[in-house]
Amino acid sequence: MEKRKIIMDCDPGIDDAIALAYAAAHPEAFELLAVTTVAGNQTIDIVTRNALDLSALYKLNVPVAAGMVEPIIREHHTASEFHGKNGLGDCTIPRADAEPEKEMAVFYIKRLLTELPEGEKVTLICTAPLTNIGLLLKIYPEVKSKIQEIILMGGAVAGGNVTASAEFNIYVDPEAAKIVFKSGLPIVMCGLDVTEKCALTRSQIQKLSQSQNNQIAKLCGDMAGYSLANGNKFRGQVSIHDAVPYMYLTHPEIFKVQKVVLDVDCSDGESAGRTIADFRWWMHEEEEENIAVMDADASKFQEYLIEAIYELGEKVK
Ligand code: BDR
Ligand code: CA
Repeated sequence: MEKRKIIMDCDPGIDDAIALAYAAAHPEAFELLAVTTVAGNQTIDIVTRNALDLSALYKLNVPVAAGMVEPIIREHHTASEFHGKNGLGDCTIPRADAEPEKEMAVFYIKRLLTELPEGEKVTLICTAPLTNIGLLLKIYPEVKSKIQEIILMGGAVAGGNVTASAEFNIYVDPEAAKIVFKSGLPIVMCGLDVTEKCALTRSQIQKLSQSQNNQIAKLCGDMAGYSLANGNKFRGQVSIHDAVPYMYLTHPEIFKVQKVVLDVDCSDGESAGRTIADFRWWMHEEEEENIAVMDADASKFQEYLIEAIYELGEKVK
């Protein structure tokens, strides 16, 4: 496996927090250059504070830059019914001394990409509305040559979780998603088709919560436990959506993918924010095609995720 330079654009967020733990447990696979935040599951101030505190708790100590406070055009709606008032399922973690970078995320990412050594590229892992990344690509299209790939959690070939046909990250800022999908960059969409299957069960969550000697396992269990107890009917399991893009890189063999041309419904109609997945390869040029991750070996996902959480807990003791 090649080790990749990563910028994570996120909105922690219970599953963002667990995804970051997975990344922190795999330094052989990921060189995390920065965590950037965007209004999504909670307000920008809350998700940025969470990113700073999680980065310290996981001993990552990466720079954190705060991004857009609202979507490009639309009004922002949080997902506090699933992630709690503090975005982390109301679990408390120590407050870090660190403060966000002075530069706003869009400019911070632009600078990181511009200052990369000749020939090097960065992979963007996006687990939130695509507002920062859409603006970055629109304002500074020249940075595209520095982006290896965008691997995102968002959308779905079929179905939705905010509405019957739209997934949260895309629904919040469809215009930003459209810019990203039409950017010409290689994109891997980890949508609900696969991420809903990548879930921890009630008994796995309870076991994590009972880990008194492993603070990261306990925290991940408690956060996922909040989701299990709140929001809609979780049917005894909680999807850890945002860990999927990372695991797609460490364990590609557990996923099934399909080539697809992606678009978004940017109307105000009933299917606003729906990702449009076009599989008609004969209608498109090969360069327009991206990848949709469609399926996963769910028990392998659980095994690798739980293993990483415990490993990180041992590492940061
Ligand atoms: C996505 O929406 C957010 O609530 C989660 O953090 C995840 O990124 C799932 O639809
Ligand atoms: Ca997220």
